[in-house]
Amino acid sequence: MDIHRLAPVDDLNHGEIRPFNIEGRYVLLVQGELGPALIDGICPHAGGDLGKGSVSGNRIQCPTHKYFFDLQTGVSPLGRREGWGPAGVYPLEEIDGYLCVEFS
Ligand code: FES
Repeated sequence: MDIHRLAPVDDLNHGEIRPFNIEGRYVLLVQGELGPALIDGICPHAGGDLGKGSVSGNRIQCPTHKYFFDLQTGVSPLGRREGWGPAGVYPLEEIDGYLCVEFS
Protein backbone atom coordinates (compact mmCIF):
# COMPACT_ATOMS: atom_id res chain seq x y z
CA MET A 1 0.00 0.00 0.00
CA ASP A 2 1.13 3.54 -0.71
CA ILE A 3 1.52 6.43 1.67
CA HIS A 4 -0.72 9.33 0.62
CA ARG A 5 0.05 12.97 1.38
CA LEU A 6 -3.12 14.81 2.39
CA ALA A 7 -2.14 18.31 3.47
CA PRO A 8 0.65 20.26 5.11
CA VAL A 9 0.55 20.13 8.90
CA ASP A 10 -1.29 23.20 10.25
CA ASP A 11 -2.93 23.83 6.85
CA LEU A 12 -6.48 23.23 8.05
CA ASN A 13 -8.64 25.68 9.94
CA HIS A 14 -10.82 24.58 12.84
CA GLY A 15 -14.02 23.03 11.50
CA GLU A 16 -12.65 22.50 8.02
CA ILE A 17 -13.67 19.34 6.14
CA ARG A 18 -11.48 18.36 3.21
CA PRO A 19 -12.63 15.40 1.05
CA PHE A 20 -10.37 12.88 -0.69
CA ASN A 21 -10.93 9.86 -2.89
CA ILE A 22 -8.05 7.47 -2.24
CA GLU A 23 -7.80 3.84 -3.29
CA GLY A 24 -11.55 3.75 -3.85
CA ARG A 25 -12.34 5.22 -0.43
CA TYR A 26 -14.17 8.48 0.16
CA VAL A 27 -12.56 9.94 3.28
CA LEU A 28 -12.53 13.30 5.02
CA LEU A 29 -9.66 15.14 6.60
CA VAL A 30 -11.31 17.09 9.40
CA GLN A 31 -9.94 19.61 11.84
CA GLY A 32 -11.67 19.11 15.17
CA GLU A 33 -10.77 20.62 18.51
CA LEU A 34 -8.37 17.74 19.29
CA GLY A 35 -6.54 18.17 15.99
CA PRO A 36 -6.78 16.67 12.52
CA ALA A 37 -8.55 13.37 11.94
CA LEU A 38 -9.38 11.16 8.97
CA ILE A 39 -12.87 9.63 8.87
CA ASP A 40 -15.05 7.87 6.30
CA GLY A 41 -17.15 10.27 4.27
CA ILE A 42 -20.18 7.97 4.06
CA CYS A 43 -22.32 7.93 7.18
CA PRO A 44 -22.71 4.44 8.65
CA HIS A 45 -26.31 5.15 9.67
CA ALA A 46 -27.94 5.45 6.25
CA GLY A 47 -25.30 6.63 3.78
CA GLY A 48 -25.45 10.40 4.23
CA ASP A 49 -22.53 12.50 3.00
CA LEU A 50 -20.52 13.50 6.06
CA GLY A 51 -18.51 15.74 3.74
CA LYS A 52 -21.54 18.04 3.65
CA GLY A 53 -21.83 17.95 7.42
CA SER A 54 -20.45 20.29 10.04
CA VAL A 55 -17.92 20.11 12.83
CA SER A 56 -18.74 20.81 16.45
CA GLY A 57 -15.99 20.40 19.04
CA ASN A 58 -14.40 17.07 18.21
CA ARG A 59 -17.41 15.62 16.39
CA ILE A 60 -18.81 15.74 12.88
CA GLN A 61 -22.56 15.97 12.35
CA CYS A 62 -24.22 14.17 9.46
CA PRO A 63 -26.47 16.47 7.41
CA THR A 64 -29.06 13.75 6.77
CA HIS A 65 -30.38 12.82 10.23
CA LYS A 66 -28.09 15.06 12.30
CA TYR A 67 -26.28 12.31 14.23
CA PHE A 68 -22.82 13.09 15.58
CA PHE A 69 -19.66 11.01 15.17
CA ASP A 70 -16.52 11.35 17.26
CA LEU A 71 -13.59 12.24 15.02
CA GLN A 72 -11.11 10.03 16.90
CA THR A 73 -13.25 6.90 17.36
CA GLY A 74 -15.99 7.23 14.71
CA VAL A 75 -18.52 6.30 17.38
CA SER A 76 -21.95 7.86 17.59
CA PRO A 77 -23.62 7.40 20.98
CA LEU A 78 -26.87 6.69 19.17
CA GLY A 79 -25.23 4.14 16.89
CA ARG A 80 -23.85 2.23 19.86
CA ARG A 81 -27.38 1.99 21.24
CA GLU A 82 -29.03 1.00 17.97
CA GLY A 83 -26.39 -1.35 16.62
CA TRP A 84 -24.90 0.43 13.60
CA GLY A 85 -21.60 2.18 13.07
CA PRO A 86 -19.04 3.34 13.99
CA ALA A 87 -17.69 5.33 11.05
CA GLY A 88 -14.24 4.20 9.93
CA VAL A 89 -11.34 6.29 11.21
CA TYR A 90 -7.73 6.05 10.08
CA PRO A 91 -4.48 6.99 11.80
CA LEU A 92 -2.65 9.98 10.39
CA GLU A 93 1.12 10.14 10.22
CA GLU A 94 3.21 13.26 10.01
CA ILE A 95 5.93 12.86 7.38
CA ASP A 96 8.14 15.71 6.18
CA GLY A 97 5.64 18.30 7.36
CA TYR A 98 2.61 16.63 5.74
CA LEU A 99 -0.35 14.75 7.18
CA CYS A 100 -0.28 11.33 5.53
CA VAL A 101 -2.22 8.09 5.57
CA GLU A 102 -1.43 4.53 4.61
CA PHE A 103 -4.41 2.19 4.39
CA SER A 104 -3.67 -1.33 5.55
S1 FES B 1 -27.51 9.06 7.25
FE1 FES B 1 -26.19 10.06 8.64
S2 FES B 1 -27.34 10.28 10.43
FE2 FES B 1 -28.62 9.16 9.08
